[in-house]
Amino acid sequence: MKNDKMKAYVVEQVEPKKFISSIQEVDIPTITQDEVLICSSHSSLNYKDALSSVGNPGVSRNFPHITGIDVAGTITQTNSKEFNIGDKVVVTGYDLGMNTKGGHSQYVKVPAAWVVKLPDGLSQKQSMIYGTAGFTASLCVDALLANGIKNGKILVSGATGGVGSISITILSKLGFEPIAITSKKEKIPFLKSIGAIEVLLTGDMDTQNKKPLLSEQYDGMIDTLGGDILAHSLKAIRYDGVVACCGIAASFELHTTMFAFILRAVKLIGIDSVQCPIEKKRAVWHKIASEFRIDDNILENLTTHIELEDIKPIYDKMLSGQITGRYLVNIS
Ligand SMILES: NC(=O)c1ccc[n+]([C@@H]2O[C@H](COP(=O)([O-])OP(=O)(O)OC[C@H]3O[C@@H](n4cnc5c(N)ncnc54)[C@H](OP(=O)(O)O)[C@@H]3O)[C@@H](O)[C@H]2O)c1
Repeated sequence: MKNDKMKAYVVEQVEPKKFISSIQEVDIPTITQDEVLICSSHSSLNYKDALSSVGNPGVSRNFPHITGIDVAGTITQTNSKEFNIGDKVVVTGYDLGMNTKGGHSQYVKVPAAWVVKLPDGLSQKQSMIYGTAGFTASLCVDALLANGIKNGKILVSGATGGVGSISITILSKLGFEPIAITSKKEKIPFLKSIGAIEVLLTGDMDTQNKKPLLSEQYDGMIDTLGGDILAHSLKAIRYDGVVACCGIAASFELHTTMFAFILRAVKLIGIDSVQCPIEKKRAVWHKIASEFRIDDNILENLTTHIELEDIKPIYDKMLSGQITGRYLVNIS
């Protein structure tokens, strides 16, 4: 590899709706005012990366493109007074990996305003096992706590996915009773091993039940799916319960009634990790490194380690809901 070149996972548009990906040698970017250059150590795979890789226009419109909506690494060049060469940092969200070239690359150029210094006690590798999925899971748990849900039974949908699996582990650590909702019967032992006290299979849920409310069974929910599973679950949340919704892996629609909200005072709270203000990002990364911190053995249990060269087939599985846990991309 020449000095001014780096390895990256590049997506190219070859026809109006046809995209191909390959590992390429491309130029190391040049930073301008208030930007930093990060030498990547690790990135991860998130559902949005898979959408970007197939040219989903809601995610990426500029090609050729490098995927990767998160990255951890070390600052090697800086035009910002806030950062020094050698600082260990993490970046999630904003435009990274959307129309700004992303973390699946040996170097990444970003505005300094997007960058969080890694909190003490969290390595670059650990931070990317959490990655955007774990950061979002932490925002969801934080929203439950901030709205008065301190214990009890919490439904978690899309349970085997990145956000779902990390949500379960954090809830379990905090003493909640996480109840996993999954489409994968064969993953029940895995979900129990990371802290689920019970597992519901989506195929067994009576989502066509027309009753506007069901008996009050759950204190809250973290939803990554939207659609019928969210609508059905809302009917069974207890009085004053809280639902943090962050994903639309199943559907962007929600057909429901007002009853849970006006008769049971249920709160439906939207979660966004992308434009989350940088001060809140710093605070939540500190929680990830401290009170939300998951035991390393449990983190390893839900992580698959891969290289840039392994990404493509995993994107295909992600788009059909076939993955389990987190994919850590080793870049160095
Ligand atoms: N608001 C935010 O800031 C934010 C941040 C991160 C992610 N998200 C969103 O949250 C959702 C989950 O993200 P993730 O990173 O956890 O994704 P992921 O790792 O790919 O997992 C998604 C999981 O959802 C379930 N699923 C059910 N139906 C599906 C379908 N039709 N297609 C794909 N998955 C399906 C599967 O779990 P089971 O088989 O166990 O049901 C799957 O493993 C996505 O919609 C993502 O865009 C939002």
